[in-house]
Amino acid sequence: MPKTVKVNIKNYSYQIIIGNNILENANNFHAKYFYQRPKIIIFDTKLSKSIYLKLLIAKLGKETKSISVPSGEKSKSINGLNNLYNKLFSNNIDRNTVIYAFGGGVIGDLSGFAAATYMRGIDYVQVPTTLLSQIDSSVGGKTAINSSYGKNLIGAFYPTKLVLIDINTLMSLPKKQMLSGYAEMVKYGLINNSNFFSWLESNGKNILEKDKKKLEYAIAVCCKSKSKIVEQDEKEIGLRALLNLGHTFGHAFERLSNFKNFTHGEAVSVGTILAFKLSNELNYCTLDDFTRIFIHFKKMNLSTHISDLFKKNIKSLDTINAMKLDKKTINNRIKLILSKGIGKAFICDTIDENNLNMFLKNNGFK
Ligand SMILES: NC(=O)c1ccc[n+]([C@@H]2O[C@H](COP(=O)([O-])OP(=O)(O)OC[C@H]3O[C@@H](n4cnc5c(N)ncnc54)[C@H](O)[C@@H]3O)[C@@H](O)[C@H]2O)c1
Ligand SMILES: [Zn+2]
Repeated sequence: MPKTVKVNIKNYSYQIIIGNNILENANNFHAKYFYQRPKIIIFDTKLSKSIYLKLLIAKLGKETKSISVPSGEKSKSINGLNNLYNKLFSNNIDRNTVIYAFGGGVIGDLSGFAAATYMRGIDYVQVPTTLLSQIDSSVGGKTAINSSYGKNLIGAFYPTKLVLIDINTLMSLPKKQMLSGYAEMVKYGLINNSNFFSWLESNGKNILEKDKKKLEYAIAVCCKSKSKIVEQDEKEIGLRALLNLGHTFGHAFERLSNFKNFTHGEAVSVGTILAFKLSNELNYCTLDDFTRIFIHFKKMNLSTHISDLFKKNIKSLDTINAMKLDKKTINNRIKLILSKGIGKAFICDTIDENNLNMFLKNNGFK
């Protein structure tokens, strides 16, 4: 039986359906939610030969149109968006058509923003195919493209009508991408669910080995966790910022490397270790908790040190400046997610920059 997570936000709600063989029933889901409305699939070119894409097309019916988008972050751009609009127009897509976004976070974010703006908004369904997109980007209604000034700076809160998570799609996902998603998975345990962190300590290896039953369980836990947070703070006025554990550092590393050389998850894992180390040094969290997390990250082969990301030392001041460019920064004050222990994350905007500078210098920065 598939698992269902319901997301309830003020004026709308939607279901996340999680399981194996979900796409086998895509026709039934479509009929249930959209009756006989026309559909179009937007997919990542890398997945053009995917048996699950073929299955989705077969199940939605031979009249289903499809559009491919080049894989990679470059597609999440004003040019990529314009190309997508043109393809939607040239395929005569009207407001009654439902978009199915088949791919990772890039396809989900881009298709979602196109859906939010094409003819002032049309309905879309997320069919995430990476671990990261199944537990994070497909949930919560944030859609975006990047600007030359930074990542995800142009976008909209535009919730999907339905999320179909078919775990089978992960079977072709490379190990590196599984690990990138795992860094986000462990984040949910560390934010507010210490039981889930303990579960991952025993079962994390099985997740990376793609054990379907355990994946189904863990993905559902993560979707529930994220939806609970989003339900309380859709527009990120407060609580939702907790989801950025490890990300203020991580985004800075991605910016300093120009989004090349390592995955988002690798940057976030180093950021998470730094956030816990700093929490320990500021006496918020015990050394035991920090050590437990560090051991788990090592066991899972997650990155833990800045030298795992950059061959040359990077400067602490450059890192701090990059951290200040984060969307979450207000009045030039860095907002960090710190922790009072496993499952006890909190928002901290009282970090002294000189202390942060010293802390980074003591942890492998120039
Ligand atoms: N909207 C949100 O709330 C939110 C949250 C987190 C991240 N994001 C965004 O998500 C994006 C990252 O998502 P991602 O990690 O899924 O990246 P991605 O979409 O680039 O996918 C990663 C790689 O995996 C490939 N791929 C996808 N599915 C596959 C499959 N089943 N088998 C084999 N290869 C497959 C892709 O072609 C790509 O090369 C970023 O742009 C980030 O900003 C958005
Ligand atoms: Zn992330």
